[in-house]
Amino acid sequence: MCGIVGYVGPREATEVLIEGLRRLEYRGYDSAGVAVMNGSGISVRKAVGRLSALEKELASNAAHGGLGIGHTRWATHGAPSIANSHPHVSYDGKLSVIHNGIIENYRELKNELIAQGVKFASDTDTEVVAHMVAREFKGDLLQALAAVLKRLRGAYALALCHAEQPDRIVATRRGSPLVVGLGDGENFLASDVPALLKYTRRVIYLEEGQIAELTSAGVELFDRELKPVTGKEVLTDLTLDAAEKEGYEHFMLKEIHEQPRALAETIRGRVEGGRVDLGELNLDAESLKGVRRIAIVACGTSLYSGMVGKYLLESFVKLPTETWSASEFRYADPVIDASLLVIAVSQSGETADTLEALRICKQQGARTLAICNVMGSSIPRIVGGTLYTRAGPEIGVASTKAYTTQLAAFVLLAVGIGRMLGSTTQADEARLVAGLEQLPRQVNELLTDDIVAVKRCAKRYKDVFNFMYIGRHYNYPTAMEGALKLKEISYIHAEGYAGGEMKHGPLALVEDTFPTIAIAPHGRTREKMVSNVQEVKARKGVVVMVSTLGDEEARELADYLIEIPKCEEELSPILAIVPLQLLAYYTATQLGRDVDKPRNLAKSVTVE
Ligand code: G6P
Repeated sequence: MCGIVGYVGPREATEVLIEGLRRLEYRGYDSAGVAVMNGSGISVRKAVGRLSALEKELASNAAHGGLGIGHTRWATHGAPSIANSHPHVSYDGKLSVIHNGIIENYRELKNELIAQGVKFASDTDTEVVAHMVAREFKGDLLQALAAVLKRLRGAYALALCHAEQPDRIVATRRGSPLVVGLGDGENFLASDVPALLKYTRRVIYLEEGQIAELTSAGVELFDRELKPVTGKEVLTDLTLDAAEKEGYEHFMLKEIHEQPRALAETIRGRVEGGRVDLGELNLDAESLKGVRRIAIVACGTSLYSGMVGKYLLESFVKLPTETWSASEFRYADPVIDASLLVIAVSQSGETADTLEALRICKQQGARTLAICNVMGSSIPRIVGGTLYTRAGPEIGVASTKAYTTQLAAFVLLAVGIGRMLGSTTQADEARLVAGLEQLPRQVNELLTDDIVAVKRCAKRYKDVFNFMYIGRHYNYPTAMEGALKLKEISYIHAEGYAGGEMKHGPLALVEDTFPTIAIAPHGRTREKMVSNVQEVKARKGVVVMVSTLGDEEARELADYLIEIPKCEEELSPILAIVPLQLLAYYTATQLGRDVDKPRNLAKSVTVE
């Protein structure tokens, strides 16, 4: 949540900052602002709403200079307003700061500052940092920041500049991401790599607690005690194309259509000759010795992939597996010890609750793995091993290709670990490997064949107020994820339910205007799902069925039929979700919603 950028060099800073913020808008879009060193002081420009509002403001009220910091906000403390927008400026007008995260003890710090006579201009937690660092400043911003960091609790990525040291930006991170971009006679800073790609592919991911000092001549890194440290420069393989819409109207639609490629990439090199190869995880029966239970922790869409993961792990690894919403896990009393293997699932690798749940597990001796999409992000850095989904940057707030690749990763993990522990048969492994290899082609077929039916369905039902999604076993999470897609981008209320639970309450909602989406591909629960559909139909409900191609009974029963190719039952969630992603997309676009940036949401949730 919130995106931050910084630039120092010969270019007009605002141009670099706006370009960077455009790439980070997925992190928050309630307001945006920049602060630029103008030769005699700091020019600050802010606007409420999308980045375009800030661009308009800069067009009429330019801010010139070669050093600046910029911010796009997802509001936590204080409503979206000019006063609450970043950058925040210190009481003496000399220092400017941008922040991603939450300063948890800001109230106590604010009271202290107020008692000292400091006047606050905003309701944010961030403003305390501006005033505290300004008070500590004795000619060296680095030292002033280091002193203040000792008093801050919570999560932060911070970047600051000071009028008395107009040639440098000082930045640090703890719990929120920050990447330095290295240029020639210029340097950059951003919450995420796509913001830098137009200028450089040479990056340093700041480690927890590190402080960076950027000038046009170079970048120096320090630990919290200000001892110099060496950062690891890497050449990112992300390209600017990957972060562009490439002719699609929205990132979400582009990302839905990228799924065949993303799945192929995720499987590539990990299956061969009917076998799964997870060499990259350095796992074997010895390193898994003593593992008796598995816990999956995740949030949002990643949590639903974790629910499928549980079924897969229990089938193929045969160890009791629980799936936890990371925010619940943290405040419950789960039994954590060395017999527990924790698997964190996260597209971004930065979700605060997932990260914190992992830290708790590590402290208490559990072993850890991750399924993650972003190299260099925080979660892979603290776990024992990471299976990367190679989906490429996902920009649309509603997760699509990250989800299907997470599901594929879970199949690989379950079968791979199952083989190591001797709990998966060779026949099952070969069957699933063959199934995985079919997936890119099958998703491609779906994307061509289903569009018409899905668009019709979206048009027919876009004005209803409620939707029910039902599924069982492997496709119970599909029902949850399908419903989540619809509500997050169309704002239509939708509920995902286990098919068998309909009669314990939700059936009371059914009437002739109430659509139920029943996910009933072939497999062990298909017949039970058909019975559930009959129950809905008997009460005059409308049913959209997602079933396997050639299911004649479904054809007769359904008011709308969406067909998916025949596949292994365990892989059906990967195919079944695709038309539901499209259904949400076309419903939302027909309602004129902002699909890539739905109201109130953000892609990367780095606050708890
Ligand atoms: C936000 C996003 C979701 C995502 C969830 C978890 O809510 O909008 O799309 O599923 O965070 O994020 P993660 O990066 O941990 O998968």
